[in-house]
Amino acid sequence: MRWEVVAGVAVLAVIVGGVLFMALSGERQDSMAVQPRGGELVSLPPPARAGEVSFEVALDSRQSVRMFSPDPLTLTELSQLLWAAQGLTRPGGFRTTPSAGALYPLEIRVVAGNVEGLMPGVYQYHPSGHHLALIGKGDLREDLSGAGLGQSAIRDAPATLVISAVPSRTTGKYGGRGVRYVHMEAGHASQNIYLQAASRGLGTVAIGAFHDDQVHEILLMDAGEEPLYLMPVGHPPLVLLV
Ligand SMILES: Cc1cc2nc3c(=O)[nH]c(=O)nc-3n(C[C@H](O)[C@H](O)[C@H](O)COP(=O)(O)O)c2cc1C
Repeated sequence: MRWEVVAGVAVLAVIVGGVLFMALSGERQDSMAVQPRGGELVSLPPPARAGEVSFEVALDSRQSVRMFSPDPLTLTELSQLLWAAQGLTRPGGFRTTPSAGALYPLEIRVVAGNVEGLMPGVYQYHPSGHHLALIGKGDLREDLSGAGLGQSAIRDAPATLVISAVPSRTTGKYGGRGVRYVHMEAGHASQNIYLQAASRGLGTVAIGAFHDDQVHEILLMDAGEEPLYLMPVGHPPLVLLV
């Protein structure tokens, strides 16, 4: 066989091998990700990677907002908040928040009641693909407010982002200390939501006072998953803006 033919076959083998490797490693990544739950998937607008408000102004204006105007949240606004909470940033599945061992124990759900283009319901956010999966139908804001000791912000906000965790993802590697890491990570996600809201003229409040078992049930959480934060989000009323 001529050397040109041998070289050609070798080059072809390298190309086919590379394509196969990329396909298989992509499959491995997908199978490691949480599988979408529920039937209907809702694509979210791509998140903005730049904004007009400086980081310092966002920090300076961050505050807990517990009253909301009746305006709906747009899907673009919701998309941006979800990306800030747990969205993907760079190749390798890395996210907007740090995570011990990059094990990502957090899950984000949305209880949507008044979001443009979104049927009222409970949705689970999937960072890979940046989409929502509908896991429960109906406006559950009143129920969630009840589980949250009657806090009116949950009832009045157009949507509430719920941060939960599957601690075993982290304790499997770090043992008991992993529990501490998981709680720290919820703080990172919560602060991201606060700052993203502040930079987009939105308001939110981190709510930690609620009945765990009721929130678990309303949000259709898995065994081994625990709710950590409720974050109602929406437009602040004019009185807070002046
Ligand atoms: C762990 C934690 C739990 C909280 N739980 C609630 C809550 O259940 N309800 C509420 O209205 N605010 C809650 N907050 C918000 C605090 O009340 C608020 O951050 C504090 O009053 C300071 O105000 P600021 O956020 O406007 O700076 C919580 C904050 C943290 C960090």
